[in-house]
Order: sequence, then C-alpha cells, then structure tokens
Amino acid sequence: MKMRISALTALCLTVLFCGCAKGDEPVLKDAFAKQFLMGAALNDDVVSGKDAQAAAIVEKHFNTITPENVMKWAVIHPETNRYDFAAADRLVEFGQKNKMFIIGHTLVWQNQIPDGAFKDDSNNLLGRDAMLGRMKDHIFTVMGRYKGKVNGWDVVNEALSDEGTLRKTKWLETVGDDFIVKAFEYAHEADPNAELYYNDFSLDKPAKCEATARLVKDLKAKGLRIDGVGIQGHWGMNYPSREDLQAFIDAMAAAGVKVMVTELDIDVLPSANQYRGADINVKVELQKELNPYANGLPDEMQKKLADRYAELFGILVKNADKIDRVTFWGVYDKTTWLNNWPVRGRTSYPLLFDRDYKPKPAFDAVIKTAPAK
Ligand code: XIL
Repeated sequence: MKMRISALTALCLTVLFCGCAKGDEPVLKDAFAKQFLMGAALNDDVVSGKDAQAAAIVEKHFNTITPENVMKWAVIHPETNRYDFAAADRLVEFGQKNKMFIIGHTLVWQNQIPDGAFKDDSNNLLGRDAMLGRMKDHIFTVMGRYKGKVNGWDVVNEALSDEGTLRKTKWLETVGDDFIVKAFEYAHEADPNAELYYNDFSLDKPAKCEATARLVKDLKAKGLRIDGVGIQGHWGMNYPSREDLQAFIDAMAAAGVKVMVTELDIDVLPSANQYRGADINVKVELQKELNPYANGLPDEMQKKLADRYAELFGILVKNADKIDRVTFWGVYDKTTWLNNWPVRGRTSYPLLFDRDYKPKPAFDAVIKTAPAK
C-alpha cells in the first residue's frame, strides 16, 4: 500500500512538474525587456480569433504588433472613394486590449495598391498636385482614424533601389523626387504624436545604407520628423554579414535615428535565384529541388537555423542601445509568407515557432542571447 501511494505521488509530481516546466517556457518580451520591444506581424486570422493558438503565442511573447496586410492601401482603401477599416480596426483593438505598441504598415508603397490610385476617371496617370492630394487624403484618413492608438507608422516603404537611387515607381513618376518628403510632412501633420519611420529591405547593402542615411539627414535638415529606420530583416543563412549589419546600425545611429528590425525571418531553403532582397514582385517557378524539406526540417538544419538566429541576435543585443524593436514577419512557420514567396507552395521554416505552435531550437537559441537581468 505504502509503495503504491509513493508511486502515485511520484506520478502526480511528474505531471505537476511537467505542467510547471511548460508554464516556465521563457517569454521573449520579458527576456529582452531591457533591450528592445519584441513583436510579430499578424494576419487577420490571428486577430479575429480564428487562429487562437497563434493569438495565444502573440499575447504571451510579444509586446508590439504590425499588421501583415490589412493596413496596406489595397485593403484599407480599395477604391478611390472607399475605405474599408474593418480588419484594421480588429488589429488595433487586439493591440489595445493587450497593451501593445502598435505599428501602422504602411502608408506610401508602390505594391499592394490599386492601379487606379494613381489614375483619374479617364484612366490617365494623375499629375503631381492631384496625386499629392490623394496621398494627403489617404494619410490623413488612415492616420486620423487611429490617432492616439497606432504608435508608429511605416510612412514610406521600399522607395530605394539596391544601388541607392530612387526606385522607378508610380509615386516617383506622378509626384516627383520629393514624394518621400511630402509623405513625412503629411504624416506628421496627421498625427503629431506618432513615431514616423522609413522601412526597406537590403539596407545592409552599403549603397542602400548610405542612401538611407542621406535620406534621414535630408528629412531632418528640412525640419521633418523621422524617428526610426526599419531594416526589414528577410535574411538568409549567409546574409547579411556581421560587418554590413553593424555598419548599417552605426550609420543610422550617426544619422540620429533608432533602428528597428521590422520583418525578421531567416530562410533556410535553397535560394530560388541569386536575388537577396524582398521585392514581392519577384516570382520563381516551384521545382522539387527548391523545396527539400517538405516533410520536416532535419535536426542538422534546425541546429544551423538556431545558430544563425543566435549569431544575429548576438549583434542586435550588443547594439541594444541603438535598436528599439525586433519584429518577426509572422508568428509560426505554417503561415509565413515565405511558404509562397518567391516560390509558391514551399514548406518554409523561418520563424521561432513550428507548424504545431511549438518553440523551435531557434527559439531557445534566441532566448540564450538575452543578457542576464
Ligand atoms: C508581404 C505579406 O507578408 C504577404 O502576405 C503579401 O502577400 C505580400 O506582402 N516587405 C514588406 C511586407 O514590407 O509588407 C511584405 O509583406 C513582405 C516584404
């Protein structure tokens, strides 16, 4: 009888202990509380409650959120005279309920915007003044709605080429060289208390990094507000280099703005082409060799991914005084955009939580880089 009781006690203790151990899983936002905000981009399923397990991860681990798509022009302003705030409202409500720092993404971008936004009723490209009018209306309407609720905005997204020149976009074509300046001017007028950011990919590339620093200095010289630059962070196993990432962080600090890593994910899949940026227009056909881990990521690759995360977080932690926020582009591997970009239909593994919502070795590796409190 005595034996049986102690066996039962042992069993109870095991259950209890395992339960506790699970509850003791470290929390990202707490581990880095002294370094930077930790965030994730959310799709509408997370926010609406459809993907409740993803929402639980977000509520536990993150203190800042970014809408993955629902504040982009095509969604929030689908026709010239019609706005649709339903999904964006849900995201903002979710963030407020959880007392999170909410990012608006994004006001002025050449992608995920209807062609009609740049045209008049007769389908002709708008002239400068008319287009500036549209830009202002959009910025005032969207920022105005979330004034005091959305804390910071990606005012302009991806305006620079890898060579550091202005990309050839409809914004440039219709408004002219100063469209970035105008966007920041309107954004500050629309909500003087909101933080304002420039956001782009491949900012570790020296020419693009220099151009961004010039842009920041130019905006500041004109007396405009810019609080930070977001380096998207769609990174790979061998880029960016430590040196280039450090140089970017230093360049932004020297220009007088905070750095944000705004769209972090690390791709372990074979590169689909030589391209290292994150231009959503790039498309590559699915071939078997491009999708080698359709049935799961081998341990050896898990380890490599974990090591790469540790390496990059090591750099971020070392520069924590210059970095405000680290936001992942998604919550878990099943719904990452990298399952469908640049190749449709791959099985991708770029985030810290796996397809079953479980923390991966990369999660532990990231936690280990957090300095002792
Ligand atoms: C991506 C979203 O994740 C996808 O769901 C969508 O189909 C395309 O856009 N740079 C950005 C993000 O600034 O807005 C993009 O998000 C990824 C690249």
